[in-house]
Amino acid sequence: MNNLLTIAMPKGRIFTEAAELLRKAGFPLPPEFDDSRKLIIDVPEAQFRFILAKPMDVATYVEHGVADLGIAGKDVMLEEERDVYELLDLKISACHLAVAGLPNTKMNEVAPKVATKYPHVAAAYFRQQGEQVEIIKLNGSIELAPLIGLADRIVDIVSTGRTLVENGLVEYEVIEHITSRLIVNRVSYRIKDERITEIVEKLSEVIKQKGEPA
Ligand code: PRP
Repeated sequence: MNNLLTIAMPKGRIFTEAAELLRKAGFPLPPEFDDSRKLIIDVPEAQFRFILAKPMDVATYVEHGVADLGIAGKDVMLEEERDVYELLDLKISACHLAVAGLPNTKMNEVAPKVATKYPHVAAAYFRQQGEQVEIIKLNGSIELAPLIGLADRIVDIVSTGRTLVENGLVEYEVIEHITSRLIVNRVSYRIKDERITEIVEKLSEVIKQKGEPA
């Protein structure tokens, strides 16, 4: 029986912590894993295939079944609402989604604008607050928006807080605490349950030993 498992890994800041976690759990990732430009890395001795994807796309690969498992930030899960199972909180890459803007400023009373990479999360948040805002979708460097008058507020990830501080912005509200999650395709979970359960158990053990994120 084909026992190959395909895992979608997010490129970028989550990658290093996710790779470290997998290694600690006993999965033999080759050294080339860390600085290769390859997008597909096979580890035949462990019957793993890794695909390296943009963080926002990981859940898409898993939902469509081209990856059995994936590592995705809770931010992506909230924004994308993909039809996948969330198996485990990996407790890595802790950060939070926040509303931020220039200090001591109120939102425009007429047609306030919010710039974000997370249009669904932002829209839901302001709806819940009873505030009608125009959402402006950007793909990165969100902190620019209030600085150049594109938006009154941003909704973005805050990790160390350095980007906000260095751009003279402040946080107004925390929307959600975020960590990375192990997600699985619904069909894979049924037909490859033994291997997947083993992986979850090994990862859980490492997470338990590490304790809560700082
Ligand atoms: C993320 C996020 C913030 C920054 C926060 O951006 O969108 O801009 O990190 O991190 P900090 O609190 O540690 O400064 P990312 O680096 O992913 O790039 P982006 O601008 O393309 O979104």
